[in-house]
Amino acid sequence: MDYRFSDRVKKLKPSAIREIFKYASDPDVISLSAGNPAPDAFPVDAIRKCSEELLREQPIDALQYSVTEGLPALRDDVSTFLKQHCGIATPGDSILITSGAQQIMDLLGKSVINEGDTVVCEEPSFVGALNSFRSYNAVLKGVPMQDDGMDLKKLEGILKSDSKVKFIYTIPNFQNPTGITTSWEKRQGIYALAKKYDTLILEDNPYGDLRFAGERIPSIKTLDTDGRVIYSGTFSKTISPGMRVGFAVGGNALIQKMVVCKQGSDVHTNIWSQHVIHRFLHGWNFEEHLKNLQKIYAKKYAVAEKALNETAQSLTYRPIQGGLFIWCTLPDSIPMMEYCKKAIQNKVCVVPGNAFLTDSSKPCQSFRINYSSPADADLARGISILGRQAKEWPADQQR
Ligand SMILES: Cc1ncc(COP(=O)(O)O)c(C=O)c1O
Repeated sequence: MDYRFSDRVKKLKPSAIREIFKYASDPDVISLSAGNPAPDAFPVDAIRKCSEELLREQPIDALQYSVTEGLPALRDDVSTFLKQHCGIATPGDSILITSGAQQIMDLLGKSVINEGDTVVCEEPSFVGALNSFRSYNAVLKGVPMQDDGMDLKKLEGILKSDSKVKFIYTIPNFQNPTGITTSWEKRQGIYALAKKYDTLILEDNPYGDLRFAGERIPSIKTLDTDGRVIYSGTFSKTISPGMRVGFAVGGNALIQKMVVCKQGSDVHTNIWSQHVIHRFLHGWNFEEHLKNLQKIYAKKYAVAEKALNETAQSLTYRPIQGGLFIWCTLPDSIPMMEYCKKAIQNKVCVVPGNAFLTDSSKPCQSFRINYSSPADADLARGISILGRQAKEWPADQQR
């Protein structure tokens, strides 16, 4: 049959990452391409106990339909955690429990983007979010990343010249894919510009709790006085991505609109998962659990860092203090896409950097690696293969 797709989705293509995942699932390939938490980071025993107790004590609550806004007890937990742990408490804000943070991108897009509206994002940025905004026919305008976050002059240039900007999308902690953390000065700058040009900010923070070095920087949401910042959080990287539980915090009227949009999408977030997470947050010490995760990631990152320093000197990489990704850059003489394809032949899978650009046909010399999911020996071996491949890149295939 000749399917007649809507204008809205006709131009959407499967992301380069999904295509690369085909190779990543080959057991002979060392996958440095996923964004998966480390296997040791899952609190399996605790989740098993919470599930057993839940099914014993509240079986029908766990299996019945529930409310779109999310389990009230879990919304209270999120509110308390954000107040105590992150200093986030904007009067007039509401909380919506979502099916992962990914759904926040979709619901915000559905709620505010008209065809042809602009979303300003970091360049490069998280491809899952970019694809959500694209599905509402938003025009994506990228602001180049500097070592401490977006180039604020360029950001202001866009905001000044474009009256159709609906929101600024930023990942201030250990950004996906570059690992960059936005400085406190720049967070204040982004908020001030959003206020000056009267636009929203979507602050996406899946990695803030995975900081294993350096000082925590307050969230942009702590500056918010008028519901301008919609904060996106998730339990995907701290408890389990498979459980699909995220949370949006934003102005009540905006959250109410997202609730209506969510009703048409999945009615509510998996209620079994919400109950289990609520029980986990109460029956187990979440702060201790986060400290344990930070130790796991510090140890794993040390393996990656050693391998990069000792076996991959032909690559440059940006050191990180948390999160899951390392951004590596090739010498100008090596064509990045050919390099990533050759890596697959050599049984290592990475994500080509252009997948994260607003326009993936633009030149890019970088690629993303994930250090959290492979076993230590595979991680070190994968990085050394990448290093050797760059060092021994054939002269006749250089640019
Ligand atoms: C920056 C960023 N935002 C959001 C998400 C989506 O997370 P979730 O699993 O909560 O949908 C990811 C997942 O990798 C991410 O990297």
